[in-house]
Amino acid sequence: MSASDTAAAVAERLPRLAPAAPPAAPATGADTAARPPLIALHGASVRLGGVTALHGVDLTLHAGDRLALVGANGSGKTTLLRLLHGLVPLATGRAERHALPSTARPPVAAMLFQRPFLLSLSVWRNVSLALWLHGVPRAERRARALDALRRVGLDELAQRPARALSGGQQQRLALARAWALRPDILFLDEPTASLDPGAKREVEHVIESFAAEGLTVVLATHNLGQAKRLATRVAYLEAGQVVVDLPVHAFFDTDRLPPQAQLFLKGELAWTR
Ligand SMILES: Nc1ncnc2c1ncn2[C@@H]1O[C@H](COP(=O)(O)OP(=O)(O)O)[C@@H](O)[C@H]1O
Ligand SMILES: [Mg+2]
Repeated sequence: MSASDTAAAVAERLPRLAPAAPPAAPATGADTAARPPLIALHGASVRLGGVTALHGVDLTLHAGDRLALVGANGSGKTTLLRLLHGLVPLATGRAERHALPSTARPPVAAMLFQRPFLLSLSVWRNVSLALWLHGVPRAERRARALDALRRVGLDELAQRPARALSGGQQQRLALARAWALRPDILFLDEPTASLDPGAKREVEHVIESFAAEGLTVVLATHNLGQAKRLATRVAYLEAGQVVVDLPVHAFFDTDRLPPQAQLFLKGELAWTR
């Protein structure tokens, strides 16, 4: 991969969101009315290669949300993350992106994929290259990269080749690289899907610590235990539609769910650890 391909690939994964005027409508789902909206989807549909991957989605993401997207394979979780991140175009509907009231600038977002996208470079260079691509001055890059690595417990491995790390360490490196950019929103697509229980716990711990400091987190997961541990709000998708969008405690109160979501929950609860 050439340097410009690399830059394009990393930049594609870290776009900035454009601003828009705040909407008047309140959010669905969790108790978020007091927090400012960051992204609002209205009747959003996405078509991919002739398939309707999302259909008529209404969803507002608020600052400080910890939103879990759950649903079977092919239900549209990844597409919804990519749409929120601005990586796929809408077929119909609207997507509003709002400036942060505190800073009047658009929120910065970063996305992590199921398999971390790492370059054949050292651990710290994977972080410092992302900082370089985002225009962080050279004098700041080293300290910011090491700070981010410390944050995820990888500072002692800074000189190791990134691709020689274990799966869990690689995912923590991807989290460090995202965090180093000081994002407002973190999109995570099944970040622990291929990890053993110990590595899963470590990655969850990092995500939890980022959320605790106020980062807005949207997480696609198959793991309902993970949704319980990390999320304050859960959206259940089926066939490209958001069927349920509830605060986490209400989502796991199955009497309140429509039958298809109850069935999903029963089927998946065996896999929640
Ligand atoms: N690049 C693509 N081309 C055509 N169809 C796609 C593409 N990506 C996803 N899809 C389809 O869109 C639907 C939603 O997929 P996806 O968002 O990946 O679901 P999930 O992440 O929940 O497994 C599925 O039917 C899937 O087959
Ligand atoms: Mg997916």
